[in-house]
Amino acid sequence: MNGRVVVPGDKSISHRAVMLASLADGASRIRGFLEAGDTGRSVAMMRSLGTQIEETCPTELRVTGLGLRGFSQPEGVLDAGNSGTTLRIGAGLLAAQGFTTVVTGDASLRRRPMDRIIEPLERMGARVTGDGGLPFPPLSITGGRLGPIRYEPRMASAQVKSSVLLAGLFTSGPTTVVEPLPTRDHTERMLRAMGVRVESEGQEVTVHPPKSLTPLDIQVPGDFSAAAFFLVAAAVPGSELTLAGVGVNPLRIGLLRTLRKMGADIRLESERVMGGEPVADIHVTGRTLVGTDVGPEEVPALVDEVPALCVAGALAGGRTRITGAAELRVKESDRIGAMVAALAALGVPCGEYPDGLWLEGPARIRDGQSLDTRGDHRIAMALRVLAASTGTVMELSDTACVDTSFPGFEKTLASVVDR
Ligand code: S3P
Repeated sequence: MNGRVVVPGDKSISHRAVMLASLADGASRIRGFLEAGDTGRSVAMMRSLGTQIEETCPTELRVTGLGLRGFSQPEGVLDAGNSGTTLRIGAGLLAAQGFTTVVTGDASLRRRPMDRIIEPLERMGARVTGDGGLPFPPLSITGGRLGPIRYEPRMASAQVKSSVLLAGLFTSGPTTVVEPLPTRDHTERMLRAMGVRVESEGQEVTVHPPKSLTPLDIQVPGDFSAAAFFLVAAAVPGSELTLAGVGVNPLRIGLLRTLRKMGADIRLESERVMGGEPVADIHVTGRTLVGTDVGPEEVPALVDEVPALCVAGALAGGRTRITGAAELRVKESDRIGAMVAALAALGVPCGEYPDGLWLEGPARIRDGQSLDTRGDHRIAMALRVLAASTGTVMELSDTACVDTSFPGFEKTLASVVDR
């Protein structure tokens, strides 16, 4: 792979931007918004609640905020599609509204656990029930007057943290979340940029309910989690790639640190700050990689990058082992099971742990295999870059799911693969 890639806007930041802008007093401008399946669900949810959102040009939104108390009850059931972020973070806002909302999702989302948000939001005073009393969507959320809590989630999850912090905007006093390990802090950064008092100390973050939110005028950085697929594929000999304008928030770039440990030559150039987030051009020059161990403390900063890391592991010499990653079992698919099944079919020595996996490289990738992406965008993109970088022919069961986070992925890939 050679050349320069511009990846689409960050998915996590795009979700937060459209939701928080909907609560602001006045019009926000969001440039570099990710126009994709998942973020489209958050736009639709905010529109259903009464927010006026115009697409002023591709990837640019003008959001007319309704203020903190401006939402109205939506008609019918809201659909978060494949997007856990829309449902879980959105639930934090819905928990504070004086009406009932029902939110569902696609088959994948309806299998994902929601007790992690039901429990704290109920403690704050909302009533949240899952399908048939089980903690799965569709969720029925009846909001009301919320009280502040101090909450210690069992798992490291930015979605859970953000859901509680957003509900905390509507309480009578400060709300605190104490995380077992630090997770992405985009919500905290954006709230601060909108004038909200947010205090972070170690793994503890406290939000103070504001009177109002100042509108946003931001440029969303490129998505590191989209860049990750190109980063791993170009980290091996014969490639040299620049990924322009990518968000490099330290809580997101665990993969970059791990690749460096594996021997990768990755430089950050033109480091700058955009919308309160660190951004850089990432320059990667291919080198021979060696396998490595990734432990529980490192997982939150690369939680979405494990499929990509498996690609690096398959191309590297020796064993790569990832542990403390049980959360991957409940992502858009069981990503441990999905990657191990695909790698095994491709002839890569590998195996599962309950909370992780191991694999051994450098593997001779078997040609002509039919592989199941499980409708999971990140599994599909990982296998596509593995095929591209090794010149292997693979048949993937579903690649339309890529549009969940990265429309135009194939075109971008074709623009940098040397033939
Ligand atoms: C996200 C947080 C992560 C990540 C997801 C997006 C977010 O989930 O896997 O793709 O935007 O907050 P968890 O926080 O539940 O691990």
